[in-house]
Amino acid sequence: MSERIRELISEADVAAKIAELGAQISKDYEGESVFLLCILKGGVFFTTELAKRITVPVSLDFMSVYSYGAQTESSGIVRIIKDLDTSIEGKNVLVVEDIIDTGRTLAYLLENLKARGPKSLKLCALLDKPDRRVSNVSVDYTGFCIPDEFVVGYGMDYDQNYRNLPYIGVVEFS
Ligand code: IMP
Ligand code: MG
Repeated sequence: MSERIRELISEADVAAKIAELGAQISKDYEGESVFLLCILKGGVFFTTELAKRITVPVSLDFMSVYSYGAQTESSGIVRIIKDLDTSIEGKNVLVVEDIIDTGRTLAYLLENLKARGPKSLKLCALLDKPDRRVSNVSVDYTGFCIPDEFVVGYGMDYDQNYRNLPYIGVVEFS
């Protein structure tokens, strides 16, 4: 079986959307600072670009959670592989994710983070597949809503490949 990538969202469209999200976040957090909580590994590319578009003071840290294997379906079992180095108590936490699919990963994570006493807790995702949702998670900032297709690029992988693509594409098998 061989795979090819069909472009879904161009590099320019991603960049424009991130600038838009950055402007909106800067406005919403005016007079405050924001703590970007990047979910590894997929969220890295999006987080760094987004951080550059935010004009209020930014700090950031990383967390790694396991919810996916080599398959394309969330297991529902979430394990923290790497936790934050810093406390989020009293901070305006903005969780930055590549994509919200079933929502299982974030449902678990948001509950876990809430218990740590942040001042506020919001969620920003570059992509959202609302048709696939099984957990009740609401996304505060969404880049693009996409149909139920498996996407790669801009941090997202298929079996750890394609994260480095500068655009977002759909994996097609033939
Ligand atoms: P959820 O728990 O089903 O919402 O899964 C969320 C995680 O699964 C995301 O953070 C991604 O790492 C991964 N994921 C979900 N859909 C895709 C996709 O289409 N391409 C690549 N990774 C995906
Ligand atoms: Mg992810």
